[in-house]
Amino acid sequence: MPVEGRLLSTWASLHREHGEIFVKINLLEKALVAMLQKNVAAPKENALVQQRDFLEAFKQGVVLHFAVEKEALFPEIAKIGKKEKTLMDELLFEHGSIMEKYLTIIQSPYGDEEKTETLLKMAQELEMHAQKEERDAYPLVKKLSPAQLEMVDQGAKRLGYRI
Ligand SMILES: [Fe+2]
Ligand SMILES: [Fe+2]
Repeated sequence: MPVEGRLLSTWASLHREHGEIFVKINLLEKALVAMLQKNVAAPKENALVQQRDFLEAFKQGVVLHFAVEKEALFPEIAKIGKKEKTLMDELLFEHGSIMEKYLTIIQSPYGDEEKTETLLKMAQELEMHAQKEERDAYPLVKKLSPAQLEMVDQGAKRLGYRI
């Protein structure tokens, strides 16, 4: 494995998950838009299956993904400087907004139009959030010292994250 890949192991896993998130959101968005437009060619069942799959994947993966970023990665990046700390605060705020929508969604029944709209918003926020991390956080991950990267990996492992 290349040295960089070995050193950035937690980031490599987070990055891979961002890719998976983009694929899932793409499928979900198509199904939800068709459902909201009442497109008869796209059966409602398909949209419901996509919703369930997405919410399940969120619960299984994204919740831990957020925790690893919050507890292990972001604190190390925030140590770089003030600008970097501000960016990490922004990303954490976005986690909060996404989680808030998620909690609303799981409390309302499937097929409910408001739920579908909130889910669409949540998916779009998550997509933009992951794009922002890829664009703005990755260059900062590369600035971390080997000791900091080790701290990130240890923190991630403590949370039960497989890297
Ligand atoms: Fe994040
Ligand atoms: Fe992320």
